[in-house]
Amino acid sequence: MKRLEEIQRIVETHIEAEIEALNIREPKHLYAPIAYALGNGGKRFRPRLLLMAMEMFSQLTPQGLDAALAVEVFHNFTLLHDDIMDDADLRRGKDTVHKKFNPNTAILSGDAMMISSYNYFKGLAPDLRAKVLDIFTQTALEVCEGQQYDMDFENQSDVEVGAYIEMIRLKTAVLLAASMKIGAIIGGANEVNANLVYDFGIKVGISFQIQDDILDVYGNPETFGKEVGGDIVSNKKTILMLQAMRDAKGDELDKLNEWLSKEVFDREEKIAAITSIYDKLNVRQKAEAIQQSYFDQALESLDQISVSVERKQPLRTVAISLLRRDV
Ligand code: IPE
Ligand code: IPE
Ligand code: MG
Ligand code: MG
Ligand code: MG
Repeated sequence: MKRLEEIQRIVETHIEAEIEALNIREPKHLYAPIAYALGNGGKRFRPRLLLMAMEMFSQLTPQGLDAALAVEVFHNFTLLHDDIMDDADLRRGKDTVHKKFNPNTAILSGDAMMISSYNYFKGLAPDLRAKVLDIFTQTALEVCEGQQYDMDFENQSDVEVGAYIEMIRLKTAVLLAASMKIGAIIGGANEVNANLVYDFGIKVGISFQIQDDILDVYGNPETFGKEVGGDIVSNKKTILMLQAMRDAKGDELDKLNEWLSKEVFDREEKIAAITSIYDKLNVRQKAEAIQQSYFDQALESLDQISVSVERKQPLRTVAISLLRRDV
């Protein structure tokens, strides 16, 4: 456990230094919101996973630390834009960037974060850098694809579970997986192992997003840091909603459809009504079972990576904590 705490501290220190640099950079209306977003914490899972994957094969280097910064800055960029798209006012217990500043700021500061995330790879040797940038670029595009499906599905009533899994693979899992694969490659992993690390990341990421969907409804409002019920308000086709649409019958189904088609409604009333349908249909338990099955598949990929069990232990421990998160 001690090493995991050390990695956490290393990540925080590296991000802190970047925040200090951003805070004095001009124009300040571009960079201060970036410092604000990065400074509001978050679990820092992606940079931690990157460094742990790297350490599975070798030791940490300054280039590895910069790559960790790249994935965290990129992740935070996606959140700036995601919060505009999801009309979310709260993140990590604070105002979102578009709420605290304004939407144009969140768009442009987000763009600057996305662009600068590429710069953090510049310390890598040219061959390695080309390989890493290929993965990163493909991942960035896939995240956009996932976000588009996520929005498309808001207006679709016939979303299949398979399409949902593909949507969350794209919007969430590929960045976790790419973070780990990049860490593994910088650490010198061979292709087979790097791909197994990626598979592990995809399964963990899918499981992670299912957990995120569950927390959006059942998270503790005191600690969750985001507004509970946001997915319900915007008709997101989460795993909970898909299960409910599949299992609801008669009056319940009518009620569900009525709420989904209402244009004007009281936010709290809609959240309470749909949550009570979820409760009656036990969709939470069903979602948790699906989440667990992806987590089990993740561990199978981890088992296949050809390094010692001890070297895999940190990733296993963090994956477990990731899926027991309550924020
Ligand atoms: C939020 O990611 C977006 C999702 C993919 C669910 P995290 O839950 O990792 O957010 P932070 O960075 O810890 O706040
Ligand atoms: C997040 O999905 C995916 C990306 C940010 C790319 P969500 O919209 O569920 O994330 P939260 O719940 O706002 O953190
Ligand atoms: Mg969101
Ligand atoms: Mg979203
Ligand atoms: Mg969410």
